[in-house]
Amino acid sequence: MKKDGSLHVVAFNGSARKNGNTAILINYVLQELEKEGITTELVQLSGTKIRGCTACMKCFENRDKRCVIDDDMVNDCIRKMIEADGIILGSPVYFSDVPAEMKALIDRAGFVSMANGELFRRKVGAAAVAVRRTGAIHTADTLIHFLLGRDMILTGFPGIGMGLNIGDVDRDHEGVDRMKAIGQNMAWMMKLVASENAKNTAPRVHKEKKAGPVKKKR
Ligand SMILES: Cc1cc2nc3c(=O)[nH]c(=O)nc-3n(C[C@H](O)[C@H](O)[C@H](O)COP(=O)(O)O)c2cc1C
Repeated sequence: MKKDGSLHVVAFNGSARKNGNTAILINYVLQELEKEGITTELVQLSGTKIRGCTACMKCFENRDKRCVIDDDMVNDCIRKMIEADGIILGSPVYFSDVPAEMKALIDRAGFVSMANGELFRRKVGAAAVAVRRTGAIHTADTLIHFLLGRDMILTGFPGIGMGLNIGDVDRDHEGVDRMKAIGQNMAWMMKLVASENAKNTAPRVHKEKKAGPVKKKR
């Protein structure tokens, strides 16, 4: 939640095409959220070099909500995720899965979240996928495994829009409808979560003993 009390959603576009089909799909969701008074930001992963996780496990030692790789945008993305009430991951299908930049964000933000007691827990999540023909479910699976794995709340199926060239997804009316429904459902759920949080009666979070790096005996 922002300082002025307004709810905020951050969306990440994993496509190499900034204004391509994935961005179009995400924007349908964002428009619905804005109609409900929720502020939004669309972060483009394309055009930047994002390194993959090096499995150094320093995030589990430092527990400072950051990745030790600090020469790309991932720490900025993690901060935006922490500050947001809702998180959208949008991706095109590249050989039946997410592009490399999106996978790097998932791996590094995922470990930083785990290392710090789940930073995105009980935020509202959503996934959007742009596909020409095959691999949408596998790609959506990658996205929702991140969201659900980090204890986020999803309001329904991921949105899938079909198209090859930029703008094709606008003609996939079923896909567009799904995006709009996702936006409306996200807004409803975010307001519900915020009102529960305001009551301060949310159920306690059980501290799970999660598998992490094995501590060396000295
Ligand atoms: C490297 C690459 C791999 C792709 N692999 C697939 C694929 O496996 N299945 C598919 O249906 N479309 C595939 N596509 C097509 C894109 O998913 C499709 O054009 C999508 O609408 C692109 O979204 P964008 O405009 O946001 O980039 C691929 C495109 C690229 C550039």
